[in-house]
Amino acid sequence: VKIESGEFTCQAPSNIALVKYWGKLEDQIPANPSISFTLDNCKSITTLKFEKKKSAGDSFDFDFYFEGKEKEDFKPKIQKFFERIDQYCPYLKQFHFTISSENTFPHSSGIASSASGMSALAFCLMNLEKEMAPAMTDEYFKRKASFLARLGSGSASRSIDRELVVWGEHSAIEGSSDLYAVPFKKQVHENFRNFQDTILLVDKGEKQVSSSAGHHLMHGHPFAKERFQQANDNLSKLVPVLENGDIETFISIVEGEALSLHAMMMSSQPYFILIKPNTLEIINRIWAFRKKTGISACFTLDAGANVHLLYPETHKDAVLEFISNELVAYCQNGHYICDQVGDGAKLL
Ligand code: PMV
Repeated sequence: VKIESGEFTCQAPSNIALVKYWGKLEDQIPANPSISFTLDNCKSITTLKFEKKKSAGDSFDFDFYFEGKEKEDFKPKIQKFFERIDQYCPYLKQFHFTISSENTFPHSSGIASSASGMSALAFCLMNLEKEMAPAMTDEYFKRKASFLARLGSGSASRSIDRELVVWGEHSAIEGSSDLYAVPFKKQVHENFRNFQDTILLVDKGEKQVSSSAGHHLMHGHPFAKERFQQANDNLSKLVPVLENGDIETFISIVEGEALSLHAMMMSSQPYFILIKPNTLEIINRIWAFRKKTGISACFTLDAGANVHLLYPETHKDAVLEFISNELVAYCQNGHYICDQVGDGAKLL
């Protein structure tokens, strides 16, 4: 089908990894498999306008707007993304694109927008591709959207599908691949349904070391081999836990993964520290709260100082009270974001 012009608006959420991806090979191949909860409220909304060029030419033509303003400093990232996906999307050079994106979470919140932003853009591109090839199956559509998102930012591959998503080959996950993420297909125990994630914003600034630099430092890292094995083992252990609802084991795996991720940063060369004193204050208070109340709330971290507080929906009131009584004091300007497990990318 020949397409001249049009536009698509898509939204895609952020995600929070339970078993972390940290370290990659060439072509955005992960050094170990990872699994994440897809989030709901924290998302990017992206409009892709396209217009057929008079002659295809040899360059990518696009403008990029972020929250209504033209953003030149973001263009190299998109240029690089287009270069990487060119061989899989040979139509790109035929169009002029106007890409406009916004996030539902505050710009300076320390929440990385690469996962939601890159998956939203990949999802828009797949809608264009589907318009040109309408016979495409839903499965192919999602798989390729995740495949393209991966080439934008590894963790973005896990933001296309819903709820629990695995990226990277693992023997316990049927159909898993290093090239794209797949939904976790086993029946998930009700303890983990509609799981809550409250993001405590400890530090809203730009982090000093980007995640791509961090991934790179896993090359030649003294603990790399053990870390990749640990992530594989943790995913093996997590699979039955997600089915049988064993929250205690869930907590020990998830908190252990978060600390291992940061331990890798602290033991790379050069070493670096992304957590802040208030990150540790919050962690200690979560441990004390869990001991005192028996409520199964636990933390995880991504590549930054903010703390993700994960808990079952049944404990929402008690945990929110704990947050407002104790934890807000350690959040920058008292800010936190309430989120929960969500549905993945959508065409609006
Ligand atoms: O997708 P990237 O390259 O920004 O890497 C993200 C890595 C972590 O967020 C730290 C872990 C993960 O699996 O999401």
